[in-house]
Amino acid sequence: MQIIESSAPGKIILFGEHSVVYGKTAIAVSINLRTHVKIIPYENETEKQKIKFKDLKSSQKVIFEIIQNNIQLKKWNCDSKTPQVFAVIFKEIMKEKILKPILIEIESELPIGSGLGSSASVCVSLSAALMKFSGKIEIDQNGKITKQSLQEINKFAHLGEKIYHANSSGIDNTVSTFGSILVFNKNQDPKFYNISKLRSMGILIIDTGIKRNTAKMVKIVSDLYSKFPKVVDKIFESMNQISLESIENLENFENLEEEQKEEKIIENLQQLTELSHCLLNSLGVGHPKITEITQICNEFGIKCKITGAGGGGCCFCLFSKNQREKIEKIMLKLNQIKIKSFITSLDKEGA
Ligand code: PMV
Repeated sequence: MQIIESSAPGKIILFGEHSVVYGKTAIAVSINLRTHVKIIPYENETEKQKIKFKDLKSSQKVIFEIIQNNIQLKKWNCDSKTPQVFAVIFKEIMKEKILKPILIEIESELPIGSGLGSSASVCVSLSAALMKFSGKIEIDQNGKITKQSLQEINKFAHLGEKIYHANSSGIDNTVSTFGSILVFNKNQDPKFYNISKLRSMGILIIDTGIKRNTAKMVKIVSDLYSKFPKVVDKIFESMNQISLESIENLENFENLEEEQKEEKIIENLQQLTELSHCLLNSLGVGHPKITEITQICNEFGIKCKITGAGGGGCCFCLFSKNQREKIEKIMLKLNQIKIKSFITSLDKEGA
């Protein structure tokens, strides 16, 4: 019996988290850490008609039983929203199908609940695998999933994201589905940039180790917005402008040599990350640990920014080839105070 496999990347938000919820533009990029899903049909067809989800990393188990095509949650040993997310995506995609018993295994290379889009990559890879399983994915002549099928995957994944984070803008699932550099505004069609413009750019990801909850952080910002709408709106507007500048920056410098051009783009992006970081702090989504990390990076002349909801989770530094040595020194120093960090790069592949 055929095993179906899929995967989808995590992400960092370069600019515009939080303001994106209020209709502003944000930029996100997919990173080369992925969630993998396998659908394994049971050999033994007499096995009770049942779907088992197994999260290999956290050893969470979720068991559904299908009774007359009705999927019922039977048992789970995790207290997250995961079972409900799985059930909703499953029901939406598999609607009329009569199912043989299957096992769905999920394994992620991403740290969970830390702003790298682990939940979105689970929703996207699960949607992609289920769509393939039910014969709903279209492949073009180059062996790639068609845009229309990707849009469907994204739609199902967003249903899951809305359960995980009540007021989800959809940025995480969109960048995980399509990959590369995403310009996202929830009121417009998404735009993508080819990552070849930044092929030498490195990304240092620093994990504070502090778990935080996106919905709670979104609430902190919405409370501030309710109290001081005119002030906070100006902060959102500045964040929007940072995203627009960064797009312009990607499109500029056509007159420079490739290598110089990339250096210049990265340098500008670094400055914009610093501005963006300060604005996020002003919204109340910083954390003392992130401030400590930022100071260490600054000692080496490297800018560091919160990514995602903030309040803990991960932060990141963008760096060029020439800054690699400084980055290694930062990693060493962070390691001495037991803060985990790792280098990653952009991933052009989505689901
Ligand atoms: O879940 P995170 O940490 O990737 O944050 C998502 C980005 C927010 O703008 C804070 C929320 C949203 O839905 O856009």
